[in-house]
Amino acid sequence: MLSGKRILLIIGGGIAAYKSLDLIRRLRAQGAGVRCILTAGGAQFVTPLSVASLSGDKVYTELFDLMNEAEMGHIQLSRDADLLVVAPATADLMARMAHGLADDLATTALLATDKPVLIAPAMNVRMWGHPATRRNLATLRGDGVTVIGPNEGEMACGEYGPGRMAEPDEIVSAVTAMLAPTARPLSGLRALVTSGPTHEPIDPVRYIANRSSGKQGHAIAAALSALGAETVLVSGPVQEAPPSGVSVRKVETACDMLAACKDAGRFDIAVCAAAVADWRAETPASGKIKKRNDGSTPMLALAENPDILKTLSAANGMRPRLVVGFAAETSDVVKYAKEKRARKGCDWIVANDVSPETGIMGGDFNTVHLLTADGVEDWQPMSKIEVARCLARRIAEHFVKS
Ligand code: C5P
Repeated sequence: MLSGKRILLIIGGGIAAYKSLDLIRRLRAQGAGVRCILTAGGAQFVTPLSVASLSGDKVYTELFDLMNEAEMGHIQLSRDADLLVVAPATADLMARMAHGLADDLATTALLATDKPVLIAPAMNVRMWGHPATRRNLATLRGDGVTVIGPNEGEMACGEYGPGRMAEPDEIVSAVTAMLAPTARPLSGLRALVTSGPTHEPIDPVRYIANRSSGKQGHAIAAALSALGAETVLVSGPVQEAPPSGVSVRKVETACDMLAACKDAGRFDIAVCAAAVADWRAETPASGKIKKRNDGSTPMLALAENPDILKTLSAANGMRPRLVVGFAAETSDVVKYAKEKRARKGCDWIVANDVSPETGIMGGDFNTVHLLTADGVEDWQPMSKIEVARCLARRIAEHFVKS
């Protein structure tokens, strides 16, 4: 998708620099040429040799390297690219960019460019939240810089929160959206995605839940949006950051999820990736249920939750043109998924094995089978982000054909 595009990648000085090595590989796999500037800080985390080996080009490090200036001036370096990507963009690098400093090769190239710039910030959560960084971010956005991430999660410094650099896959998607905007085959279509678990209250403090992280559903919403679909994500309670460009409706219970899906209007595509609780407490207690002195235990009467996938698949007159469900099984994955496809009335099922030993539930990787009217496709193990991108591409192909 990036064939013939030239990217100038500036690698800043943060622990996330190791991910930029993978980013180089992925950009080149998409056909892009990648030339790299490694800042002095960046060189503390990854070596010029690794960067050169992966990029297949020399690495630019010093502003006053006369040899390179003779071969290629720093102005030429930034003008030669179709896009400048700063990953990781540290708090310091962002500050210097925002103030127009040009005291090293990276900032000089950034100041000299007339090409679009994408930054992938990565820093400690408190640095990200600091008013100075917020100001610099606003300035950079105002200057037309595109920002991807940071993601929320565990940080190298042991803290938790927003500050992790976006994953290489996400950065590649952002680069593609910037450089190949024609690659938006789902433009003009509306997509609905459900994601995450549901929480079903037992009383005001307790609830029934499951281990779904929402990673797969959120990635699908991001991937559909990246291909141009106007995407609504109806999400149960999750830690995942809302994907940019996607409109998010947060819900708690299965009943709320169904209501939010119905309220969101008509859709061409529906992907039900949520792990909706099958049952809810029939009558949640209005006050906290107390322990009893005689040691007896309370009875919990359950009621069946509405099946959102089945309801959307059956929606008379309102049925999305393509309805995709998920089947999480712990044995006979494909057999049960085939039955589920028929029972739910959906068009496709994405089936996966969620037995504890697979680490899929809550993990970053997934091995799936796609069941359509034409048969079963066994997909290679890949990250949930890649599964999402492959599924979105597959959906786009379906709409091109139909
Ligand atoms: O029946 P089961 O939960 O195994 O089916 C999984 C599929 O059905 C998933 O696509 C899930 O999002 C959807 N589902 C739903 N509403 C429910 C239960 C499941 O949309 N109440």
